[in-house]
Amino acid sequence: MKKITKAIIPAAGLGTRMLPISKTVPKEMLPIVDLPAIYYLVEEAVRSGITDILIITNRDKDAMEDFFDLSIEYEDNLSRKGKTDELMRLREIANMANVYFLRQRETKGLGHAVGRARSFVGDEPFVVLYGDDIIFSQTPVCRQLIEVYERWGKPVVGVKPVPKEQLQKYCSLKVDETDTEGVYFCTDMIEKPKAGEEFSNLSILGRVLLTPEVFDIIDSLTPGAGGEYQLTDAMATLARCDGVMALMFEGDRYDMGSKLGFLKANIVKGLENAETCEGLREFLRDIIGKL
Ligand code: UTP
Repeated sequence: MKKITKAIIPAAGLGTRMLPISKTVPKEMLPIVDLPAIYYLVEEAVRSGITDILIITNRDKDAMEDFFDLSIEYEDNLSRKGKTDELMRLREIANMANVYFLRQRETKGLGHAVGRARSFVGDEPFVVLYGDDIIFSQTPVCRQLIEVYERWGKPVVGVKPVPKEQLQKYCSLKVDETDTEGVYFCTDMIEKPKAGEEFSNLSILGRVLLTPEVFDIIDSLTPGAGGEYQLTDAMATLARCDGVMALMFEGDRYDMGSKLGFLKANIVKGLENAETCEGLREFLRDIIGKL
């Protein structure tokens, strides 16, 4: 079995739910305390054993590329001032992994974005981290998916239960139980189901592990829900042909494409940050009393 070393982060979406800020700041560059959201995705991939990461961007998102580059001006400034810790932190970010960028060119959907990565992936299995889904967990979620792949040898999708009334915003999976708690055999799925079309309350949230045969399926996709080329439609074909595994992953997900998700992620990390935790805790206690 091939070791999984490659990841794709589709981050070319327009982020319309975060307008007007997303007009000039890509949602992946929105801060969680002092790091942009995209940092946490790359960090999760690296902690999972990934060495090569392709970020799919569009023409307004150069800030992501700059963030993972060296910054000569800041480096000079920090080294002149003897701020070694800060300098090392910047260098660590620039050297986290081999991070590559590719423009999607046309924003035609998540399936289309992943399809652009074909030559980067070659004939290896790979993980996909949806660019606006930040997940904080003990074991990185990509690692959790890789462990399921190593046992079952099939593509794996990361799932969570979603309240029935919200399923039409996500997707719904048809699943059978396996001998392992939290691991399911998935035989079908539907993107943005209408009322009555749902299979179950399990939905894919932000992480999947795919095998290269998905690319031929992506190439034959026709526009699906919302007129976009949907990755779920390609994964549904995989599920119906040979089945895919679904893992109820451990971790808390924050949707950085939504205002509430962005605020929650900042509170969680702000409470963990040595510089902000005490002041933030005090502030929260104070305003909670006024709610
Ligand atoms: P979303 O549908 O959540 O992102 O796509 P969006 O289109 O930016 O959201 P809104 O509705 O306009 O606010 C899930 C992921 O797929 C990426 C997005 O960047 C996001 O990380 N994506 C989506 C692409 O890379 N390309 C696309 O054409 C569409």
